[in-house]
Amino acid sequence: MSRDRIAGIDRRRLYLAGGLCALGVGLGVARYVVTRPQPPAGNPLPVDFGDLVPGKLLTVDWHGRSVWLLRRSADEIAGLAGYESELTDPMSEHSLQPPACRNAHRSLRPELFVAIGQCTHQGCPPALRSAGNRSEFLCPCHTSKFDLAGRVFRMGPAPANLVIPEYRFDGDSRVVIGEA
Ligand code: FES
Repeated sequence: MSRDRIAGIDRRRLYLAGGLCALGVGLGVARYVVTRPQPPAGNPLPVDFGDLVPGKLLTVDWHGRSVWLLRRSADEIAGLAGYESELTDPMSEHSLQPPACRNAHRSLRPELFVAIGQCTHQGCPPALRSAGNRSEFLCPCHTSKFDLAGRVFRMGPAPANLVIPEYRFDGDSRVVIGEA
């Protein structure tokens, strides 16, 4: 068999593998979009976060769901840019959040991140950890990673960003989860 022919077969295999890979990712996102729940709402739960220091994660139980509150420092807010190409859905177009949270920091106010603490792959609880010069959430089950806005990195199997529930501010140090 000629070298050109062998190279042609290898190229075709490469294209086929690339195509199947893209199809797999596409199907994963489509399945998530079709089966995803509506933005969680209802059963309002007031939470005081006045004592929450930057970098510390507060987890509250919201009628059986873990909800995170993370106070982000100015550096962490500024650090939420510059690596968009590593993210699956940097603009949160295919992820679940209230419309007012579809922004770069995925929150009503940049300094406070509120999210459901459940990986969008199979629901494991990711953990906050420091990774080099930035912090992130790492899911221990299949190593999906999320940034401090809950945006998922491409390298893992989770198809979408962390889910943001409905919430509103009630003053400067209290939020009501479940209420818009
Ligand atoms: Fe999180 Fe699979 S459940 S990566």
